[in-house]
Amino acid sequence: MTRFVGIGLFIVSMALLIIAAVVPAQAQKLGPDGAPNPTASVTDQGALLKQAPRIEGRIDIPDRKASVLEQPAGRTWDYFHEVLLHWSATVVIVGTILLLGLAYLIIGRVRIAEGRSGHKILRFKAFERFSHWLTAVSFVVLGLTGLNITFGKIVLLPLVGPDTFSDVAQAAKYVHNFTSFSFVAGLVLIAVIFFKDNFPAKVDIDWLKQGGGFIRNKHAPAGRFNLGEKLVFWFSLAAGVAVSASGFLLLFPFYGTDIPEMQLAQVVHAVVAILFIALILAHIYIGTLGMEGAFEAMATGEVDLNWAKEHHDLWLARQLKEDHRDEPAATPAE
Ligand code: HEM
Repeated sequence: MTRFVGIGLFIVSMALLIIAAVVPAQAQKLGPDGAPNPTASVTDQGALLKQAPRIEGRIDIPDRKASVLEQPAGRTWDYFHEVLLHWSATVVIVGTILLLGLAYLIIGRVRIAEGRSGHKILRFKAFERFSHWLTAVSFVVLGLTGLNITFGKIVLLPLVGPDTFSDVAQAAKYVHNFTSFSFVAGLVLIAVIFFKDNFPAKVDIDWLKQGGGFIRNKHAPAGRFNLGEKLVFWFSLAAGVAVSASGFLLLFPFYGTDIPEMQLAQVVHAVVAILFIALILAHIYIGTLGMEGAFEAMATGEVDLNWAKEHHDLWLARQLKEDHRDEPAATPAE
């Protein structure tokens, strides 16, 4: 009998010892107010992922990729999106704005050297301007709503709070998706309308040698578009095709793409979009602040004759001949 009591006491004391060892561990899972903390973890997630870098379960639906919970490339992509993209996009966009500010301080606004003549010539027809503005407005909308996806959490969320931010971000996302169609339409129109005037020509080399019209006292000859404008055209076309193709892959996820290809499409889209924004910032600068008389070409469609003589002399000569108007001073053949 005493033997049974002794064994019983031994079992009870061992049970108490085990409970004493377990209770502090349980207590750690309680929050400061004593309530259970549902997010407390007994394991370090980093250590767990090192042991099992890929976590894939078993599912009973046909979509195989839905079974992947964790994969190493996902963490590389996350590092790109949350760290590299933030830093590189900030450097590229803020850097471009600073450089343009510096250009304004050093070179200033390029004036019409001879002053305005008071005579106008048509440079862009209504449909050409419509195509330009359709693309331009779509681009700005896509740029702002896209940048909200990249930077909204950092910039806008602390300013407006989570409720407003989630409403704004959701609306911006829809606007981004739908504006893509007007952007592509504008891009196709621009590509078709201005294609032939953007072919490289011998005069482009002379234009470059003369400092591209940015050096006073030097005349840089050009046809309808100069080399700088031609480069903007070709780079915009290439970037436009790249953002559109990658954008539509993102818009229709997993139609012919798997997880790594979706990640690649996202990286291409984000990187090209940032470089494209930098290019267009420079384009906007030259078309507004940087050069007197340029903006009206896309606003009213007409430019001053002296502006045309200084920046597009070969084109002006051709136009005047076609219009049977007085020709300006003889210009070299294109
Ligand atoms: C056909 C044209 C385009 C389509 C179909 C498109 C579509 C998309 C889609 C679906 C996303 C992903 C949104 C998400 O993560 O939920 C996105 C992101 C983004 N887009 Fe576009 N887009 C287009 C053009 C542009 C253009 C022209 C720009 C720049 C001016 C641009 C800038 C961005 C940026 C910055 C992001 C965020 C990248 C990130 O942080 O992940 N997109 N776009």
